[in-house]
Amino acid sequence: MSVPSTNGMLPPPPTPTRGVRILGTGSFVPDRRLTNADFERMLDTSDEWIVQRTGIRERRVLDLRTEGCSTIAQRALERALESSGLKPTDLDLVVVATVTMEMTCPSVACRIAGAIGATNAAAFDLGAACSGFVYALNVAESMVRMGRARTVAVIGAEAMSSILDYTDRAVSILFGDAAGCAIIQADPDPRVGCIYQHMGADGSGWQALYIPRRESDVPAEDAANPIRLGCLRMNGKEVFRFAVTKFKDVMEDAFAKTGLTPNDVSQVICHQSNVRIIDAAREKLNIDPSKIYVNIDRYGNSSAGSVPLCLDELWRAGKITPGKPFMLVAFGGGLTWASSVWQT
Ligand code: UT7
Repeated sequence: MSVPSTNGMLPPPPTPTRGVRILGTGSFVPDRRLTNADFERMLDTSDEWIVQRTGIRERRVLDLRTEGCSTIAQRALERALESSGLKPTDLDLVVVATVTMEMTCPSVACRIAGAIGATNAAAFDLGAACSGFVYALNVAESMVRMGRARTVAVIGAEAMSSILDYTDRAVSILFGDAAGCAIIQADPDPRVGCIYQHMGADGSGWQALYIPRRESDVPAEDAANPIRLGCLRMNGKEVFRFAVTKFKDVMEDAFAKTGLTPNDVSQVICHQSNVRIIDAAREKLNIDPSKIYVNIDRYGNSSAGSVPLCLDELWRAGKITPGKPFMLVAFGGGLTWASSVWQT
């Protein structure tokens, strides 16, 4: 007998008896700025090309001699705890979405939970590239709904500068370092929390975006190209084609399954990959520009850090209207994609 997939179905079984609330958010970016003018000095590129093709003007980068993914993940977590009015010991789970951890063992989650004294928390990292934060939030929300956890810190953090080849102009100009965190907690009102989530993957398309560790990781069709092991390799055109279609499809699906229209939501928070990709989806779905936040001009694409960084900026600016739903959407390497619609 085949088992029907529950991915994307409404309502989640069994009927929830508790809700989930976002208590507070936090984010952190390094002070060091890498501007388009800096790239003009380093590479054969121009501010005009970068702005026109991507919308990016500058990004932030860590000092990798002393800092890493854990540094910014911890700072975002501390800020989120402060905004939530919680102590580290109130957390029972810390999840970090990242593909740029300093070490695969221990996880970033273990390191930062230990560093802040979250002694009651389980901790693990989750890897879904740029979709990572939305994946992690969906997983954590489901655990809280089901009573498996009560208070969870969900973090997206990425030290992209640690996996970039700064001689590759097609890739290095796109990315920056950033981290963001949302703290979620069980709530007696079952109507609040994630009212719809969808997560998908197509591993057959992994060659569009990958980080080879060994020569044998490089697919045959890429073998003739100059590849640096440990650095992000991307087929920009292929990712662009995938992203433009997938972004629109994922948003359309979330609106259709929830019965919401763009007018009903306070914000659609999109992964910041390229302003042209965001604009294409926005125009196809006729979403008012005021409802789709863009900060890629200031931070570039920070992979799993991008959605929680937007969420924190919007949260602090009071743009996530209480009582109104909002939507999170991301896509990325894997290939992966995810949506999450929240009733506040
Ligand atoms: O989070 C998911 C991660 N990735 C993405 O979302 C990326 C998706 N892809 C993109 O955003 C776009 O494909 C890029 C911004 C990466 C590239 O834009 P494009 O319009 O697809 O440019 P292209 O790759 O077709 O390149 C056009 C030209 C090429 O020169 P020729 O062959 O026409 O002479 C490139 O060599 O632009 C050249 N080029 C550059 N020129 C100046 C590539 N990178 C640069 C650069 N500066 N930095």
